[in-house]
Amino acid sequence: MLQLNNVDVCYGSFKALNNIAMTVETGELVVLLGANGAGKSSLFNTISGLNRPTRGEIAFGGRRIDGLKPSAVVEAGVVQCAEGRKLFPQMSVQENLMMGAYVHRRDKQGNRQRLREMYELYPILEEKKDQPAGSLSGGQQQMVAIGRAMMGRPRLLMLDEPSLGLAPLVVRQMFETIQKINGLGTTVLLAEQNAFAALKIATRAYVMENGQLVMEGDRETMLGNENVRKAYIGA
Ligand SMILES: Nc1ncnc2c1ncn2[C@@H]1O[C@H](COP(=O)(O)OP(=O)(O)OP(=O)(O)O)[C@@H](O)[C@H]1O
Ligand SMILES: [Mg+2]
Repeated sequence: MLQLNNVDVCYGSFKALNNIAMTVETGELVVLLGANGAGKSSLFNTISGLNRPTRGEIAFGGRRIDGLKPSAVVEAGVVQCAEGRKLFPQMSVQENLMMGAYVHRRDKQGNRQRLREMYELYPILEEKKDQPAGSLSGGQQQMVAIGRAMMGRPRLLMLDEPSLGLAPLVVRQMFETIQKINGLGTTVLLAEQNAFAALKIATRAYVMENGQLVMEGDRETMLGNENVRKAYIGA
């Protein structure tokens, strides 16, 4: 479904991504592990069209998407839920959700249906739909951010560190809903530092260090790998 070949990304003279080769198959939940500054967000922003690769190709559904505008990448079916949520805090929960449906703005009925699905996934958001998004708890704001991305009707949903700053119980619930979204048919690419919780729901994972992918394997392989455990799980 998603394929990257030999992708490099530079910020000025600094090479943030080096020779990235990666695939995500339809239906998978692929986790991208990596420490602070490894290059996870740089990779996501490159797939979303916010960064331009200086070398290499990115294809989605067999079609090149590198070089497309971010809005065209969304229309192609790839939607990113950015690190740090980036909500519009004064706007209501429902207005924030509807912002995600912008590329489908002409399909009002489809958007109403999708909004109902999001309220089924996150019932608390329906209760709070008229409240300013900024008044919600951190976990609820993260639900709004994921729900907003889902309103773009992604075939591939990219989640950049959704557990950042959330309490452990909230993190667990959030991973459950990510698994549910995947189970309902959306392919997921998830960047996380919370390695154990992420690997538990993963099909497969990559490890990124200093802008390079240094390891790849399925859930069992990664959970059983001593280097992964030492570096990211602490057991
Ligand atoms: N716009 C930019 N200009 C210059 N350097 C950047 C820019 N964005 C990121 N970097 C650098 O690129 C490297 C990778 O950063 P990136 O944000 O992609 O890492 P990350 O894995 O997402 O980290 P974190 O877990 O902290 O979010 C870092 O050294 C960072 O300082
Ligand atoms: Mg990041």
